[in-house]
Amino acid sequence: MTVQRWDADLYDSRHDFVASLGGGLLDLLAAAPGERVLDAGCGTGDLTAALAEAGAEVVGVDASAEMVARGRARFPHLDLRVGDLRDPGSVGTGFDAVLSNAVLHWIPDADAAAATLAGALRPGGRLVAELGGRGNVAVIDRGARGLRAALGLPDAPDPWYFPGIADYAAVLERAGLEVTSARLFDRPTRLTGDDGLAAWVRMFGGHLLTGVTDPDTFLADLAVRLRPELHRDGSWWADYRRLRITAVRP
Ligand SMILES: C[S@@+](CC[C@H](N)C(=O)[O-])C[C@H]1O[C@@H](n2cnc3c(N)ncnc32)[C@H](O)[C@@H]1O
Repeated sequence: MTVQRWDADLYDSRHDFVASLGGGLLDLLAAAPGERVLDAGCGTGDLTAALAEAGAEVVGVDASAEMVARGRARFPHLDLRVGDLRDPGSVGTGFDAVLSNAVLHWIPDADAAAATLAGALRPGGRLVAELGGRGNVAVIDRGARGLRAALGLPDAPDPWYFPGIADYAAVLERAGLEVTSARLFDRPTRLTGDDGLAAWVRMFGGHLLTGVTDPDTFLADLAVRLRPELHRDGSWWADYRRLRITAVRP
């Protein structure tokens, strides 16, 4: 199975908003002390640590050895493991709850990931997840692909899966879960620094730079193209659209 490379330093230094914006999931999950919780795609461990602080017995699993190593260095007391959510054997079973923030849109084989999450839950266990939803970062994606076309570059690969509510509810139902709520909403997200857009593309949209010989110039040209739509109040804003969904295993 191929696994995307993640730059843990760049993630923690410039993109820690991902975990903090996912913090609302903790309230939705409302883990009780002693509950066994899986943080599915734990990254560098911020939400795993928050769950542990709330008294949960938490296990974090992530496919990136670099992100897990960083998480272990930051939070040596946490149980963080390298594992792929497409592989049910890598997460374990019997959890009271599963939390997943900003992970599932990185797994186009959505049925495999959903089967793993459903299999991790005990009967009666609950899932709280947030992922990029339909239309997520469409302005950035379109802008970069348009610039590639203008430069005569072939279209870039697409590693993202941004489903709508009906699509993703069906995925979870096929995995045997009962969907209890779903919301698709715009959440424009401020990117810090004058180079905020460029740093975001380097972190999350590396595929859009495939075959680009001079990424600095490409990103500078992209910034000029997207400034009218994505720069306001002195900042860059990513056009995030999130899908927040909860489900239970009957
Ligand atoms: C944007 S980060 C989010 C990390 C964390 N949940 C947070 O809120 O900070 C996405 C994470 O998904 C992980 N990921 C992507 N595909 C995965 C897979 N198939 N199995 C497990 N983790 C995966 C990446 O390694 C990365 O750490």
